[in-house]
Amino acid sequence: MKIAIIGAGNIGGIVALLAIQRNLGEIVLFDVLDGKAKGKALDLMQMATLLDRKSVSIYGTSSYTDIINADICVITAGVPRASEKESREELLQINLATIRQVACGVREYAPNAFCIIATNPVNVMSYIFYKLSKISKNLVVGMAGILDSARFRTFLSEELRVSARDISTIVLGDHNKNMIPLINFSSVAGVSLMELISMGFLKKEKLDKIIERVRNGGEEIMNLTGNCSAFYAPALSIVEMMESYIDDKKRVLPCSAYLNGEYSLSDMFLGVPVIIGNKGIEQILEIQLEPDERIKLINSSGSMRETISKIKL
Ligand code: APR
Repeated sequence: MKIAIIGAGNIGGIVALLAIQRNLGEIVLFDVLDGKAKGKALDLMQMATLLDRKSVSIYGTSSYTDIINADICVITAGVPRASEKESREELLQINLATIRQVACGVREYAPNAFCIIATNPVNVMSYIFYKLSKISKNLVVGMAGILDSARFRTFLSEELRVSARDISTIVLGDHNKNMIPLINFSSVAGVSLMELISMGFLKKEKLDKIIERVRNGGEEIMNLTGNCSAFYAPALSIVEMMESYIDDKKRVLPCSAYLNGEYSLSDMFLGVPVIIGNKGIEQILEIQLEPDERIKLINSSGSMRETISKIKL
């Protein structure tokens, strides 16, 4: 596998590190800052030597010709949020210019790649990337839901004192305060959260607080670190998607996907459960939402539609 990581920043660097550790393939680390890409690639190559992986191929570049025929493109180029006041939507204008450039580069040099978009606001950026790159819809997928679900599992695991491995959660829609954690589809070893509340194992007020914390998961980290947005969990979320594609694992993962009638929504990217295998997104799962969850999804689609209608493609 040839894996092009476009944006050699915090997330891109950790994706490269994890990909080397897991032996996922040859890595091209691309950045608009040539020295940054080359310097990180050199550091990672030296790390690979310590891992006794002399055969690892990792190359830093600022030239799109080097991503030629990549099998996977991970898009982590752009500016992350630097403060709580600045919303992901406010990054739109800055990151729009970046995603346009990246889409053109990928379209020209790696038009058959499986493309994972991390740049925020992720639903909008995935849409713009999809439209401009002209890559098929099953090969363009945004990363958000896995991260939000991981945050949800972390806090539930802390509260319930059970292994996070046995907790399953789904978070849909937006990757911001309007995200939709699906309570009926979230469970501990198959026991739904509502059942756990009836059993007295989980208090409703605690669950509400946890959901609020998940909604603010990005801000919490940014405030603690002093304006640096999260990158470890986002990077591993990306790698989970990559591995499902490479190994045809057919994992069911909440991701930003192009909707073409699913959930009665069309021509937009939103977070939904998808199956990822070696054909990319092999299926979008349409699950029965509660009326309030459905309304939230419609609201998210409305704001998405409004945002994209203002963008000239
Ligand atoms: N082409 C290629 N790389 C670019 C471009 C461009 N046009 N513009 C910026 N970059 C590079 C920067 O030079 C930087 O190295 O993208 C990298 C971004 O890295 P960080 O600033 O460390 O940001 P990171 O935390 O990795 O987040 C990247 O993912 O989750 C989102 O909100 C996050 O949009 C942000 C993106």
